Amino acid sequence: MAYELIELDTDGRVATIRLNRPKALNALNSEMMGEVAQALADLEADDGIGCVILTGNEKAFAAGADIKEMVDGDYLSNYKHDPFEANHCAIERFRKPIIAAVSGYALGGGCEIAMMCDFIIASDTAKFGQPEINLGVIPGIGGTQRLARAVGKAKAMDLCLTGRMMDASEAEHSGLVARVVPVDDLMDTVNDAAKKIAGHSQPANMILKEVIEAGYEMSLREGIRFERRMFQSLFTTEDQKEGMNAFIEKRKPHFKNR
Ligand code: HXC
Repeated sequence: MAYELIELDTDGRVATIRLNRPKALNALNSEMMGEVAQALADLEADDGIGCVILTGNEKAFAAGADIKEMVDGDYLSNYKHDPFEANHCAIERFRKPIIAAVSGYALGGGCEIAMMCDFIIASDTAKFGQPEINLGVIPGIGGTQRLARAVGKAKAMDLCLTGRMMDASEAEHSGLVARVVPVDDLMDTVNDAAKKIAGHSQPANMILKEVIEAGYEMSLREGIRFERRMFQSLFTTEDQKEGMNAFIEKRKPHFKNR
């Protein structure tokens, strides 16, 4: 499928979705997020893809939801035809591993879609924030919830109430991002991580992220019980036998993703 506002590239088992509205700092309009949702649906159905990277450009991952598109919105039409639920939230529903590669601005909805990914690798130029309060609104696709879980209540309150940005170093120290690398190394680093992930057993990857995500909704005891059941379930796969036999035979495993 031809896309207008994103670029989709595949390299082996890794696919990269690049948000591509550079003049608007990748502001997230419905058309672009509709394309992201369509691309993710296709990538989820494609057994040849094991990991996805979501990225922008050097200046902006995304400077938020498109304010010009939102300005005349009204409650009832937003409620009845919620475009955020259908499109942006396709990222949180995506079942294979997805990494956000963030350079420059990741603000408002941009920070929120980065947080929907499984983890964030940022360049040293990245800037994160939830500035919606400056527009007379609040975050709307998980910012208040995911940010508070990632960085704690104090910093989430600080960021959301003041609308200030935090740099990559603060984001790393507060636990929002997994790694910070020099801007010129960002895509090589993320590609290396994605290739490694895509080379693992796909059912194990999918179950792993499901179990970690589920832990946010459960008590510790329930989470550990769910983890044990899913661990046991992986002994139904050929990949478990292959992975363990490869270790014993001192060779690399060749996973068949089943
Ligand atoms: C629409 C945007 C935009 C946005 C930038 N642009 N952010 N358009 N929606 N969120 C456009 C500008 O209008 C401008 O277009 C062009 O991109 C370049 O932006 P400048 O402001 O000229 O660039 P700069 O001076 O470098 O400032 C960068 C910036 C600033 C600090 C990131 O653009 C900014 O504050 N943007 C808004 C950030 C924000 O409030 N995000 C939250 C949105 S609400 P023209 O045509 O003038 O050149 C949100 C709600 C989420 O995300 C909940 C539901 C998803």
